[in-house]
Amino acid sequence: MQFLRRLGCGPVTPVDVPIALLGYGTVGAAVHRLLVETGDDIERLTGRRLRVTRALVRDLAKERGFAPEDGVLTTDAEEILGDGEIALAAELMGGLEPAGSYVLSLLERGVSVVTANKQLVAHRSPELFAAAARGGAQLRFEACVCAAIPVIKVLREALVATHVHRVLGIVNGTTNFVLGEMEAGRTYEEALAEAQRLGYAEADPVDDVSGADAAAKMAILASVAFGARVAPEDVEVEGIEAVRPEHVAAARALEMTVKLVGQATLANGAADVRVGPALVDRHHPLAAVEGAFNAVMLQGDAIREITLSGPGAGGIETASAVVADLVSIVGTSGPGFLQDDPARRSLARADADAIRSPFYVRVDVDDRPGVLARVAGQLAVEGVSVARLVQNQTDAGATLHIVTHEAPVGSVARSVRAIAAMPETLEPPTALRVVSDRGVEELGWT
Ligand SMILES: NC(=O)c1ccc[n+]([C@@H]2O[C@H](COP(=O)([O-])OP(=O)(O)OC[C@H]3O[C@@H](n4cnc5c(N)ncnc54)[C@H](OP(=O)(O)O)[C@@H]3O)[C@@H](O)[C@H]2O)c1
Repeated sequence: MQFLRRLGCGPVTPVDVPIALLGYGTVGAAVHRLLVETGDDIERLTGRRLRVTRALVRDLAKERGFAPEDGVLTTDAEEILGDGEIALAAELMGGLEPAGSYVLSLLERGVSVVTANKQLVAHRSPELFAAAARGGAQLRFEACVCAAIPVIKVLREALVATHVHRVLGIVNGTTNFVLGEMEAGRTYEEALAEAQRLGYAEADPVDDVSGADAAAKMAILASVAFGARVAPEDVEVEGIEAVRPEHVAAARALEMTVKLVGQATLANGAADVRVGPALVDRHHPLAAVEGAFNAVMLQGDAIREITLSGPGAGGIETASAVVADLVSIVGTSGPGFLQDDPARRSLARADADAIRSPFYVRVDVDDRPGVLARVAGQLAVEGVSVARLVQNQTDAGATLHIVTHEAPVGSVARSVRAIAAMPETLEPPTALRVVSDRGVEELGWT
């Protein structure tokens, strides 16, 4: 390890590990605080004192959550990239550029990097890991997924002898909070405004509500779980913008709750990764994940099922994962087998007809004779069988609530397109996956 070679040189003491932070905002300041407050513990464990000696920012005058020592902050990236004393770096700026170029440059010259930047890792991990291999450095990214929950470590280390074939998760706290508020009676717009007021959602919440943030996290989780690269473009994504109070009410009637669920499945040598609103059975562990919390369920041959849950965001929560990765690098040497495990193989993208799920389908129709039979007929054409059907009269006609038996995702999508094209259909139908360990026949309608 280059940094171990560097430990003896320069003005620092032999046990010092000089660290640079690229970014000193919410997470960066919290990382510095944790390194200071837990410095004695880390030194007892590793024999090293991790010291933040440089931190990159845009604005030197800005007030900081945990003040760094004089001279630590800089606005000149070259002062860090060219500093031969720096042994380790944490990228906590966000964005693809210039963060990506800075990380590449550090890895190329042998400086190991920890990052919390999920978009950077999801989109550019091949070139980042190639640079790390050339430089003999490590790239760690635990903080990219579910902040404080150590799911990457569990997948890469604890479950190395387990064939994980399914990952199911609530990996975006903002949308989970918004959907929870809708459950409590708010509209989507009111719930989002409340999330913004409480700081759970950005002023521009598009990355969260569109599902892009969850898609990047699911791409990373699937890559690590399946040992094959899954890019964000490989993820089928649907956001929560179209979830209406009527969907939440229908879920409640079925004793379910609407959640933004990420699901990665490995079947017959192909991968299917999707993010979208789903109806989750109230008896399912994911239904209990409330507010801005996250949870990930891992299913595999030897482990059956493991669920990890906890805070999915926040400065100090994310910092705990960053510091754990920094300490882990200090405690290990060389690139190691963890370095780029997803590069071991490539997987085909699963055909949507090979992936099965029960669905809830909601259709608003003109209340004409025979319309029910025609809707059921469009499902039957694709071999989708109906487990429950409830019809509610409305001013405009009728709303059909249909729960299907498990069916190929592609068949349901084709049926829904055909139903949408029927002249009696008043609005585009909604089709949401149902997440339940019970058979759909057992689901009630209250
Ligand atoms: N906050 C969370 O709960 C959380 C959770 C999980 C992951 N993350 C990830 O952690 C990373 C950091 O998030 P954050 O919430 O700490 O963001 P933040 O508060 O906005 O901090 C970003 C920091 O980077 C600096 N920066 C940004 N662009 C720069 C540039 N071009 N040149 C120099 N400095 C630049 C900023 O400088 P100034 O301070 O001078 O503006 C600031 O110090 C992101 O990748 C985010 O996705 C955050």
